[in-house]
Amino acid sequence: MARPTPHYPLFDRLFRHSVAVDLGTANTLIYTDNGGIVLNEPSVVAFQKESAAGQKRVAAVGTEARQLLGRAPSNVEAVRPMRHGVIANFSAAEQMIRQFVVMARPRPLFSRRAAFTLCVPAGATQVERRAIKEAAVAAGAWKVSLIGESLASAVGAGLPVSEAVGSMVVDIGGGTTEVGVISLGGLAYSGSIRVGGDSFDMAIVSYVRNLYGVLLGEQTAEHVKKGIGSAVRDVPVEHMNATGRSVEDGLPRTVQLSNHDIADAIDGPLRQVIGAVKRALESAPAELVTDIAHSGIVLTGGGALLGNLGRRLTNELGLDVRVADEPLTCAVRGAGAAAAAGLLDDSAYE
Ligand SMILES: Nc1ncnc2c1ncn2[C@@H]1O[C@H](COP(=O)(O)OP(=O)(O)OP(=O)(O)O)[C@@H](O)[C@H]1O
Ligand SMILES: [Mg+2]
Repeated sequence: MARPTPHYPLFDRLFRHSVAVDLGTANTLIYTDNGGIVLNEPSVVAFQKESAAGQKRVAAVGTEARQLLGRAPSNVEAVRPMRHGVIANFSAAEQMIRQFVVMARPRPLFSRRAAFTLCVPAGATQVERRAIKEAAVAAGAWKVSLIGESLASAVGAGLPVSEAVGSMVVDIGGGTTEVGVISLGGLAYSGSIRVGGDSFDMAIVSYVRNLYGVLLGEQTAEHVKKGIGSAVRDVPVEHMNATGRSVEDGLPRTVQLSNHDIADAIDGPLRQVIGAVKRALESAPAELVTDIAHSGIVLTGGGALLGNLGRRLTNELGLDVRVADEPLTCAVRGAGAAAAAGLLDDSAYE
């Protein structure tokens, strides 16, 4: 499909606005060419049930709604409309985007209908892609282009995407891990698995339940992962307390967890991430893999912040691995920059 180059550049510049949106499983970010990142909120929306007939209105979005996850009173329902990088609940996603667009409006210009460039996982189906486009149109976009999340992340991480040299980016988000090999402004290889930070949190929940008989909430598990999470075991031990409910008597109980516990807990999903990177190295064109052997791998997405992840990947793959600057914002900044500067070839967009 066509690249998002406007038909009437001057008209568009004056009257239309270009916006990049990273509608992630965990976080939604909005970037405008003149305002930078104008919104960065958890992808959560809370509804208040208004009547017995089941009518609902949006009670909160973003950070405020996230605080209600698992804590909402019975007449309020907090939902995460995205799963594995795609829309799982259409009407909730649409209303969430609509609210976010209102919140992001930094100046009157933004109130004009904007052209959206949206990041999507490489593994999204046609139906999932159409749903994301429709949700953006319903939220006020006059035109929507999609860009692969790993391409966007590569641009945001400052990789030489337009050059005739292979680069590899691994974006570990909340719901997906995207592996991309990029050369000459296009994707030479892309792989996507439905494993990400959420999988690490769930693995911690089940590990603690099995080993200590305590059921943690997913947010508690995430808090511990961010605090002491480690992708390797051979590091000095660190501890953190986590409170959940005893499976035995249903009463609150606090357990002391170590970074070694977390490394054990998340080993399964972590191996899936490593497997996806290995598959990319096996499947990408040989010349590009040679380039990657020299330049190394760049990690983006919030999962890149997991303790010692670079070290674990280097141990397993024998390649240099570095975490991009500001990994959580790479995709949206890259999507915005790519759309504005025409950095990528036409196949990057649809
Ligand atoms: N310091 C940290 N250590 C480990 N994980 C972290 C850290 N900070 C954030 N994360 C994880 O990063 C994930 C969110 O990353 P990100 O915002 O890139 O995802 P997303 O773009 O919303 O999801 P996706 O791309 O899969 O749709 C969450 O699972 C979060 O727990
Ligand atoms: Mg993401």
